[in-house]
Amino acid sequence: MSLLDDLKKLQEQAEAELAAAQGAEAVEQWRIRYLGAKGEVKAAMQRLKDVPKQDKPAAGQAANRAKNALQAAYDERLGQVQAAAPARQGPRVDVTLPGLQPDVGHEHVMTQTINEIVDICARMGFEIAYGPEVEDERHNFDGLNIPPHHPARDPLDNFYIDTRCMLRSQTSTVQIRTMEARKPPVRIICPGRVYRPDTVDATHCFMFHQVEGLCVDEGVSMADLRTCIDQFCKAYFGPDVETRFRPSFFPFTEPSAEVDLLFHFDDGSSKWIELGGCGMVDPNVLEFVGYDSEKVTGYAFGLGIERMTMRKHGVTDIRLLYESDVRFLRQF
Ligand code: FA5
Repeated sequence: MSLLDDLKKLQEQAEAELAAAQGAEAVEQWRIRYLGAKGEVKAAMQRLKDVPKQDKPAAGQAANRAKNALQAAYDERLGQVQAAAPARQGPRVDVTLPGLQPDVGHEHVMTQTINEIVDICARMGFEIAYGPEVEDERHNFDGLNIPPHHPARDPLDNFYIDTRCMLRSQTSTVQIRTMEARKPPVRIICPGRVYRPDTVDATHCFMFHQVEGLCVDEGVSMADLRTCIDQFCKAYFGPDVETRFRPSFFPFTEPSAEVDLLFHFDDGSSKWIELGGCGMVDPNVLEFVGYDSEKVTGYAFGLGIERMTMRKHGVTDIRLLYESDVRFLRQF
């Protein structure tokens, strides 16, 4: 049979099938079968090369006519099928309904405390300093007059990362880092996280926050320290707060004291709770960082920020601060 006859038959058959194709999917299948890259029209076109030379022009025109006719028929049928398809179904939106209320968060109560501490201390003339939470022995122990074999270095009392690095156990490390970096006078505070493998209970956590204070200059005395702590506690807790100094020991201060706060409980009882340590910077520490301990003196303190938050807001268990219970946290 000649190519012309085949083209005629192909066009008739294709047009009949297209008319019968129902839905977009069937029309697409038709397109692939007849007009696709490996379709019947393409196959017929490829037969042109075998047509004798004198018949080629007529055969070529007929092939193009058939192809264009099928393309036009396809375009028309596709339009019909799309117009007949049901309108897109989607959720109906009532634009007059009130919107959804997003949950708005706020600063964690510990962040609020830290910001308040920073504000108060800035007003008292302290700069803010920061140091790394992963520390070396030089800053966590050596510089703080804690010799090798001192019990404070016990692996059971520290989170060692390797034999020389650990998570800092106190913010006092920043005393050393600050003094190594600059000459006196120095007047800084450093709020930050510290880590100790303490058993967790109502007043202890394995991660907690301290605020370190350091003031080094000529003529700094214990009276300055007592005044500073008293003023700071009154600014943070209110003018009626009671604090006391209790003699104590730290390797890096001499003399040393614990700062206690008087807690009042609902049943009418009250109890002194330790807030932090403090003292006059030990001359060995000043010499370690290259300061002249005959010329300058200094005081330092390190207060537990969780204890301050708890005292201020009447929280009786430190674990509540870190349990992420929004019903508790929303109160602040
Ligand atoms: C120190 O860490 C000293 N570096 C403080 C210091 C600084 C003394 C400068 C002298 C000069 P201490 O280990 O006592 O001291 O800790 C200070 C405070 O951190 C404690 O009084 C307490 O309020 C808080 N604290 C200690 N351990 C925990 C814990 N596991 N959980 C919560 N708070 C804690």
